[in-house]
Amino acid sequence: MVNKLILGDNLEILKTLETESVDLIYLDPPFFSNRNYEVIWGDEGEIRSFQDRWAGGIEHYIAWLKERVEQMHRILKPTGTIFLHCDWHADAYIRVEILDRIFGMNRFIASIVWYYSWGGRSFQRWNRKHDVIFHYSKGDKFIFNVNDVLDERMLSEKSQKRLQYDGAMIMKNANTKEDPNFIPPSDVWYIATINGMSKERIGYPTQKPEALLERIIKAASNEGDVILDPFVGGGTTVAVADKLNRKWIGIDQSVQAIKVTELRLDKQRSLFSAPFTVQLHKYDYDTLRYKNAFEFESWIVQQFGGICNTKQRNDFGLDGKMPDNTPIQVKRSDNIGRNVIDNFFAAIQRSDKKLFNKNVAQKKQVGYIIAFSFGKGAVEEVARLKLKENIIINLVKVEDIVPIAQKPALNIEITKSVHTEKEIWEIELTSKGASEKGIEFYSWDFDYNSENGFKASVMIDRNGQQTAKFKAGLHIVAVKVVDNDGLENIEVLKFKVNGIVERTV
Ligand SMILES: C[S@@+](CC[C@H](N)C(=O)[O-])C[C@H]1O[C@@H](n2cnc3c(N)ncnc32)[C@H](O)[C@@H]1O
Repeated sequence: MVNKLILGDNLEILKTLETESVDLIYLDPPFFSNRNYEVIWGDEGEIRSFQDRWAGGIEHYIAWLKERVEQMHRILKPTGTIFLHCDWHADAYIRVEILDRIFGMNRFIASIVWYYSWGGRSFQRWNRKHDVIFHYSKGDKFIFNVNDVLDERMLSEKSQKRLQYDGAMIMKNANTKEDPNFIPPSDVWYIATINGMSKERIGYPTQKPEALLERIIKAASNEGDVILDPFVGGGTTVAVADKLNRKWIGIDQSVQAIKVTELRLDKQRSLFSAPFTVQLHKYDYDTLRYKNAFEFESWIVQQFGGICNTKQRNDFGLDGKMPDNTPIQVKRSDNIGRNVIDNFFAAIQRSDKKLFNKNVAQKKQVGYIIAFSFGKGAVEEVARLKLKENIIINLVKVEDIVPIAQKPALNIEITKSVHTEKEIWEIELTSKGASEKGIEFYSWDFDYNSENGFKASVMIDRNGQQTAKFKAGLHIVAVKVVDNDGLENIEVLKFKVNGIVERTV
């Protein structure tokens, strides 16, 4: 399954990904240049892993990264390539100790210099104005779409005139087949960094520009290919992959990174966008409970380690089986009653009497029923079958298969409004979330439309308070709250501004 955001340490997740299943990997791991700077989101997990590795110095860092890159090498398809983004802190070590060893020196394609104007201004030494992106291939043949990344020829006025006069000659000299205004691409790229004014800025310090990822993805993949970013951060790689009709997988150990990336993808979604899933460590009861029934059944059977029935109309109402063929039935409801046990008991005998008899003889369970909770009647009947007839049916609660939590509570209020100028009101909105796990952040959509879904106007707000300007008329604002498990809640506020500010919902 692709188009997926996964929360977790990428080493563990990478181990679960299939061998030779990905066309392109881009990674932008933390550099560990300085304690405070590197603690990007300030999540507990990140602070811990950062401190652990810092204690061991550069060798420790290289060992940490190397075992991850080994997995990436395994996952890459034979025609795939990897782009490893780093800077002067560790670039030499990474090239020699990691990439040359795992991919081989002969698989080196380029050391791309990403040059920018941002950064320090010192008169004491050379100022650092570039990052390094190593490009390696897995095999000797790899995807390289040169025509999608040609460099623009920098033409002087004089040569521009000559070009108009004798374009053909220059074309031949430049060795570009189609357009004399372009030349083959070089390994030095000038791309502006994200600054405070950038439109694509989401408020994440190490966010990379979309233009950089666009160049990488266009050069080294085709439409429909699978792109992996195991340090997805603010989601630049997957956002660009999505725009360029590539499939993608993004991993990060920070809840905030995953949720911000999700909001970013939601924001750029259109009717034609491919769907995606978000895998967290916990599941929200309401979302599971009200999911499409068939989708829920097949998902939970898989989580349980079983195989689901592919037919929508299942054999005798059974939804799946375990690898040893023991049948599974799923009920997407609470408090299920005795009748479910009776029906299941009849169905498993009808579907495979031999298996049923064998399991009874061996004192093994004859089947599993999965539900959110079981009523007294069901529990008593299962106990009776076991005691009186030696027949074992296992009742399994969803929460025993996947961790379930309640989503955070949320409340939004208009806390202040000032009529600033003609027809314009400045309104302060305050939202308060509550969760046992603590609140990560809030996100706002000041022009919410339920059909288009939530499109964040303010992506990360740590305090839950915003002041914005509204014209006279009806407004719909939505706020999302995200807790430390990544579970979220949304509330919509409708209000009218006209002489007074009046909340309508
Ligand atoms: C430099 S940032 C990536 C920025 C990203 N390229 C962007 O444009 O927004 C590095 C990210 O790696 C994540 N990270 C660090 N260690 C990790 C690990 N072991 N597994 C998964 N993610 C990790 C951090 O949470 C952080 O979001």
